[in-house]
Amino acid sequence: MFGLKRGVALAEPVAHVDVRFATARDIQQMLEIELLSFDRPWNRLDFMLAMRQEGVAAVTAELGGAVVAYAVITQRARHTEIWNLAAAPHLRRRGLGRTIVERVQASAGRLAPLRAIVSERNLVGQLFFKALGFRATKIIRGYYARCGDDQDAYRFVWKGN
Ligand SMILES: CC(C)(COP(=O)(O)OP(=O)(O)OC[C@H]1O[C@@H](n2cnc3c(N)ncnc32)[C@H](O)[C@@H]1OP(=O)(O)O)[C@@H](O)C(=O)NCCC(=O)NCCS
Repeated sequence: MFGLKRGVALAEPVAHVDVRFATARDIQQMLEIELLSFDRPWNRLDFMLAMRQEGVAAVTAELGGAVVAYAVITQRARHTEIWNLAAAPHLRRRGLGRTIVERVQASAGRLAPLRAIVSERNLVGQLFFKALGFRATKIIRGYYARCGDDQDAYRFVWKGN
């Protein structure tokens, strides 16, 4: 994943935060953050099934031995998608999301472009991806219709430096 073998450091280490591939043992802590982060959160089974899929990697940021942020990344035919991303609410705006996404960007290489889908109501998510060099390239009408929600979504794309 990311052109690297599992267990190999993704990029330069960041002080105090350990970024590593997630394992099934991390799901409980990821779930706790997930439930505090989304209106339609993934459940345990969603994480388990996603992380078992070919071409999917989950990455966590750990602080003092606790998972404080994570991303689930999936490799599609022509792009790599940040499928899920969240930071613990009490530690937001302290660079955790940036640390994880910059590691993915640094490791993306042949996997670029990176994409993320963000709800039209998630202004923080939009500002976050914009700050990380992503650009909104498409409005996806009715993206959440299958959940009975009429909001649209934006596709954000990062094509590399
Ligand atoms: C989006 C999210 C992952 C960002 O994580 P974070 O660790 O708080 O973000 P960072 O501290 O790394 O912020 C990086 C940059 O994004 C922008 N940003 C992040 N949060 C912001 C906010 N609340 N308001 C404005 N800009 C913000 C800023 O430019 C920030 O850089 P700066 O602090 O130097 O100005 C976090 O808010 C979150 O978990 N939200 C809920 C889940 C979600 O929306 N996920 C993304 C869509 S899948």
